[in-house]
Amino acid sequence: MALAHARVFGQPALQEATPSPYKAYIETYGCQMNFADSELVAGILQAEGYGFTTDPQEADLVLLNTCAIREHAEEKIWQRLKYFQSLKVRRPHLLVGVLGCMAERLRKKLLEEAPVVDLVAGPDSYRHLPQLIRQVESGAKAIHVLLSREETYADIAPLRLSPHRVSAYISIMRGCNNMCSFCIVPFTRGRERSRNWESILQEAQDLAAKGYKEITLLGQNVDSYHDRGVRFAQLLARLAEAVPQVWIRFATSHPKDMQDEVLETIASYPNLTPYIHLPVQSGSDTVLQRMNRGYTAAWYLQRVEAIRRYLPQAVLSTDIIVGFCGETEAEYQETLALMRAAAFDSVYHFMYSERPGTLAARRYKDDVPLEVKKARLEGVIALAQELNLESHRRQVGTVHLALLEKPARKDPRDMAGRTFSGQAVVVRQAADRYPPSTILKVRIVEATSATLIGDVADPSPVSP
Ligand code: 5AD
Ligand code: SF4
Repeated sequence: MALAHARVFGQPALQEATPSPYKAYIETYGCQMNFADSELVAGILQAEGYGFTTDPQEADLVLLNTCAIREHAEEKIWQRLKYFQSLKVRRPHLLVGVLGCMAERLRKKLLEEAPVVDLVAGPDSYRHLPQLIRQVESGAKAIHVLLSREETYADIAPLRLSPHRVSAYISIMRGCNNMCSFCIVPFTRGRERSRNWESILQEAQDLAAKGYKEITLLGQNVDSYHDRGVRFAQLLARLAEAVPQVWIRFATSHPKDMQDEVLETIASYPNLTPYIHLPVQSGSDTVLQRMNRGYTAAWYLQRVEAIRRYLPQAVLSTDIIVGFCGETEAEYQETLALMRAAAFDSVYHFMYSERPGTLAARRYKDDVPLEVKKARLEGVIALAQELNLESHRRQVGTVHLALLEKPARKDPRDMAGRTFSGQAVVVRQAADRYPPSTILKVRIVEATSATLIGDVADPSPVSP
């Protein structure tokens, strides 16, 4: 899944945290799912009496929630562990734990190769954290990396780590049953399981009551959500009705599983947003076959056509991998052609990175030279920027609903936010009049490849 990779999420205002003499510091890498998991971990620690800090230098417990999707993601963690090693010299009581996908993949190796690490816990092991911490406090190293077929953490209240009470994630399922040949996720997050729909509705209602305006439902493959006869389309409908004032987004969809029923449902509720993240990975049928993706380029384009038919306002984003095993120049060109044909609004691009143990690592050679991978990535980036700019330019002159999030970085008199369909927007001269969480009608006046720029079109907010 996942949109944001290898990004350190900023640390929190933690309005909901209680003060405590024991302070935890959590640093999160990888996808949105990892970020949501860090909020679960924070919820579990808070119940144990921990407080939180944004400054690792005053922490008693440091947790790194890690990603294993590309080698680079892991390299960064090894570097970071060196820094925490130096902190520990000054604060010998400091405990350091590694969580998440890299913990699951490397297991004992982390303890052996990084003596600074006291504790290793995989994505299905967070319920055991208090016990693991006690084990470390009594002088032993602790490790728990068993994957589960049932764990969905449905009963655990996450502690929201975002400083703004505007948008929040809800995990609706865990794990993945697809076997994309490049992907480590099935090995690090285990078998797919859906969380019960009642607890999802409850969490959404709690967020709505706290004033959140946007919820993103998370799963590796949301289209295969199922709980006692409730499939993803029905879950969306129930949520749309349960929290009618909240915008609902979701990620990630899989081209082989995405049903028209979901698109139809989105079209029929005013708070289901037409933002679809549909990773294509490659535009070449032969590469898609080696990737074991279960669809062809023509099938994918037919899905795009359905999206545009049901949801003319849809914003469509995708993931692309360049330099997968055996990728020829002609196959790469097919990816560029598909990018144009699908007219993506936004593209996340990656160079293939072989992950030990995956199908591709066992079956194929990682034989595209690094220089070629880099050049292909440049090509994808250039085209992605062109498509992004075109997509943004099409919006100039139109009016959108925008959810304001925070003062803009460039000019704090402006507010940064997102349109209903999911594009980033800067609303000029809005910061002194409208607080975060306001939904406004905004007229788009300018576009760059990074963002839309708009003016307030109607001074009365749609919602305060
Ligand atoms: N190498 C490069 N990119 C990868 N992704 C997943 N595995 C790899 C890998 N081994 C990308 C895919 C996926 C996104 C989350 O990360 O594009 O959709
Ligand atoms: Fe998220 Fe784990 Fe995949 Fe990284 S490897 S993107 S953290 S699921």
